[in-house]
Amino acid sequence: MENKNYLFPDFDKLIFGGDYNPEQWRHTPEIWDEDMRLMKLAHWNEATLGVFSWAELEPQEGVYDFSVPDAIFEKAEKNGLKIILATPSGAKPRWMAEKYPETMRTADDRHRALYGRRHNHCFSSPVYREKIANINRLLAKRYAHSPALLCWHISNEVNGECHCEHCRRAFVEFLRKKYDNDIEKLNLQWWTRFWSHRYDNFEQAEPPSSIGENAVHGLTIDWKRFVTAQTADFMKHEIAAIKEYSQKPITTNLMGFFTGIDYRELAKTVDFVSWDNYPNWELPWGDVGQASWIGMTHDCMRSLKRKNFLLMESTPSLVNWKDINKLARPGKMRISSLQAIAHGSDSVQYFQWRKSRGSSEKLHGAVVDHYGKEDTRVFSEVAALGEELEKLSAVAGTEVISKAAILYDWDTIWALQDMQGMQKNGKKYGEATHLHYGAFHRRGINVDLIGRKDSYDEYDVIVAPMMYICEEETAGRLASFVRQGGTLVGTYAMAQVNENDLCHLGGWPCGVLMDVFGLRAEELDTLYPEESVKINAYGEEYTAKDYCEILKVKDATVLGTYGSEFYKNTPCFTVNEYGKGKAYYVAFRDKSGTFTDKLIGEISADKKLPTAINGKEIPKGVTAKIREGAGEKYLFLLNFSGKEQTMELDGEYTVITTGEKISSAYLPLNGGLVLKA
Ligand code: GLA
Ligand code: ZN
Repeated sequence: MENKNYLFPDFDKLIFGGDYNPEQWRHTPEIWDEDMRLMKLAHWNEATLGVFSWAELEPQEGVYDFSVPDAIFEKAEKNGLKIILATPSGAKPRWMAEKYPETMRTADDRHRALYGRRHNHCFSSPVYREKIANINRLLAKRYAHSPALLCWHISNEVNGECHCEHCRRAFVEFLRKKYDNDIEKLNLQWWTRFWSHRYDNFEQAEPPSSIGENAVHGLTIDWKRFVTAQTADFMKHEIAAIKEYSQKPITTNLMGFFTGIDYRELAKTVDFVSWDNYPNWELPWGDVGQASWIGMTHDCMRSLKRKNFLLMESTPSLVNWKDINKLARPGKMRISSLQAIAHGSDSVQYFQWRKSRGSSEKLHGAVVDHYGKEDTRVFSEVAALGEELEKLSAVAGTEVISKAAILYDWDTIWALQDMQGMQKNGKKYGEATHLHYGAFHRRGINVDLIGRKDSYDEYDVIVAPMMYICEEETAGRLASFVRQGGTLVGTYAMAQVNENDLCHLGGWPCGVLMDVFGLRAEELDTLYPEESVKINAYGEEYTAKDYCEILKVKDATVLGTYGSEFYKNTPCFTVNEYGKGKAYYVAFRDKSGTFTDKLIGEISADKKLPTAINGKEIPKGVTAKIREGAGEKYLFLLNFSGKEQTMELDGEYTVITTGEKISSAYLPLNGGLVLKA
């Protein structure tokens, strides 16, 4: 058990389970015993209880009914099932909205919503806060000492914003604090003399609105930060109530690259991250790109705390909310689940155990169908995976260790969203990130997705695609990373604005970065979608799309030039030796990815970044990932290529489930192997 970072002190296996809503079946409680029987057959060791169950727990204000969770906890204890207990704030009872309308959310047009749906509460409402703290306390007190309780799950996929007066007041206080109660500081950072939008005092501040202020970028980005801060504050409020009675770890389920909340900030409130993964598998053009994108999302979630995470939700078969709800083909759910583990998850969990009979999610995939029995394809695949995960227990607590990082910031997402310029709608920051990620991923090189304010110490390579927001301080930290021997890759649109979206004066990329890269980016050309520009580099011809920046090179070595347009023959790809390190600058967006692949390949070789399989080719569409710890190394090979594959390995490995020794791997369509080195 040494050298392993288990998420739970008292659980050393992979978690296998998911959302369980017994309250929907309280009129037929015999089904709960059938659930226990079936869960055993499915090899479930965990159930997530209580998501959206407030109206069951507190049917009327101050009237409580814990009979459902009591019954399930008792059964869980008897059956050795662990419970992840959710707090119910994701949806509120009807009485609350009736009696306390302020608990409902107010939209940006300042209209308050009617009761309905979920995720519809105001994060600032004192009544809502009082009510949630109360019910959380009761839950914590009641179940803290159950041996079945594994951890706490706060709310569900927290998201959204509220524009009510309570929230506006909290925003005013947030601004006061940020700008030291000095309105002129705010006026300067928000550049409010533009269009005569000056503020005389903080009281005048209003959240951005479709019917009001929405053009002041300093305001819009501060509002998004406020929404994050207020959500985190609400989360802390919920957690404090739990902690009064229970010290079990706390998580909340995130949504990957959801843009509404800065997940780096939110993650600080919990002990570990969990997330809900619903990929678009079975695409007509194949799943290679999607597999890499999902890999990147797992890595982003893991990097939030640089710690293993839980896959809190995934579907055993299909979802019901996409435009096209296709079935996962046989084997796909298994490799999709193993992919999460390969990237640092210590669980495979589903939404949901049993299909609900009515309402909007009745056709969403579940382990148990309306049919109700175990002889279905989906149930069999789930049970088989459960059995396999039991044999993979030793993987739990081992880690994904990365020497390369990509900078990925919610601040930049928001500023690029607001920016009027470049391609106005859709700057494709995610695509730019994935372009670089894919080149590492393809080679089986582990990558973290870190924030610009995180530590750079553990990395040899940092890629900063479209790093539009960069304050002088961050520029200085990047400079010292390179000075000490790191390799940095910057691209077009780098370090143009400060943290308040105010343009840097004196040249881009800002401050010391011009020395680090040995150049200045002077103008940025945006192309029409059907246009492209030729690139000459590495003795080959490549193609740029979307963006071409024009550079004034000072000290950098020119490695590539534009091959067309009025900037033909001017530099578009450079490297600069700075201190003990190197800084590459890519001034254009690579159209096909072949240029980026070559660049990342060279850098990875130069910095000797560890790869999953040394010196052997990984077939396109096969994920190869390493998890390690306690002196053991596990190699995951997952075939998303859409056809069968055979590949040479860099030595002899043991197939964990069978004990077979292999030095080359055969992977059928949608097949996967977990090997021990
Ligand atoms: C989200 C929610 C679940 C459920 C699923 C359906 O992840 O957390 O409650 O609605 O989506 O895919
Ligand atoms: Zn509000």
